[in-house]
Amino acid sequence: MKKMSIVMACMLFLVSNVLLAQNKYVGAAKCKMCHMAKGKQYPIWSESNHAKAFANLKGEAALKIGKEKGIANPSADAKCLKCHATAATVDAALNGGITNDEGVGCETCHGPGSNYKAPAIMRNRDACVSNGLILPDEKLCLKCHNSESPTFKGFDFATYNAKITHKNPK
Ligand code: HEC
Ligand code: HEC
Ligand code: HEC
Ligand code: HEC
Repeated sequence: MKKMSIVMACMLFLVSNVLLAQNKYVGAAKCKMCHMAKGKQYPIWSESNHAKAFANLKGEAALKIGKEKGIANPSADAKCLKCHATAATVDAALNGGITNDEGVGCETCHGPGSNYKAPAIMRNRDACVSNGLILPDEKLCLKCHNSESPTFKGFDFATYNAKITHKNPK
């Protein structure tokens, strides 16, 4: 009996550690405080259609596309949210504060941030990457920019990336 409970305690300990270590989506507002000035990452993103991707599902163009597909409410339908709102695709256990409103947010492209957002980690690229930071390339974009999108008109990485680029100044 005693042995049993020790085994159980060990298992609980292991499980809780795995859960703590799991990277959670914290939301773009958490990245904002440090990424306003130097490379203007937050302002550039918030002006882009990625930040408006969820809001746009409530607009006339989205309602029209929905109608053709028999979808009455695109902003509540998984078939549209899939590419237009990261929060809707995130497992509840991994949601550390992200909401549909932010559309295609920082963590859609850079990976969930709870483990890498600490300043000491952020300043060290290797530490960032080992804590889950993704430095994305074309492959990631193609997950959404493809012919499954009802409005797809093709995708050229260089051209599209130039429109959303938010590099730090050299
Ligand atoms: C406490 C401040 C802070 C927070 C919060 C923060 N960052 Fe950073 N981040 C930095 C600093 C400092 C760097 C180092 C480079 C620089 O100065 O831009 C950095 C670098 C990065 C890099 C480039 C890494 C590399 O080596 O090329 C990415 C990508 C990034 N952050 C994304 C994010 C995302 C996404 C979030 C929110 C989940 C976030 N950051 C939250 C401070 C922060
Ligand atoms: C496979 C991913 C994906 C799915 C699923 C998807 N979209 Fe999109 N949507 C995109 C992308 C990427 C764009 C940017 C335009 C493009 O295709 O290059 C976009 C753009 C749009 C736009 C703006 C069009 C414009 O001309 O600016 C509307 C409106 C829209 N989508 C509505 C919808 C609706 C409604 C659904 C569900 C029926 C949906 N989308 C499903 C990826 C997707
Ligand atoms: C999770 C899905 C998703 C991913 C990943 C994604 N996009 Fe998008 N992107 C969208 C959607 C959805 C829109 C259209 C939003 C709208 O107009 O409502 C869009 C719009 C855009 C636009 C038009 C922006 C504007 O402000 O007019 C550009 C450019 C773009 N994406 C580039 C990229 C690039 C480059 C990558 C990869 C580094 C990428 N996207 C990754 C979903 C995605
Ligand atoms: C659609 C995908 C996408 C989104 C959304 C996105 N990024 Fe990025 N990010 C990239 C790509 C791709 C790069 C590589 C550099 C480039 O081409 O601009 C990058 C580079 C960076 C860098 C490194 C800049 C440098 O010069 O070292 C930082 C910091 C960063 N992103 C922060 C953010 C923050 C903060 C947000 C949200 C406010 C965000 N990103 C949203 C795709 C994205």
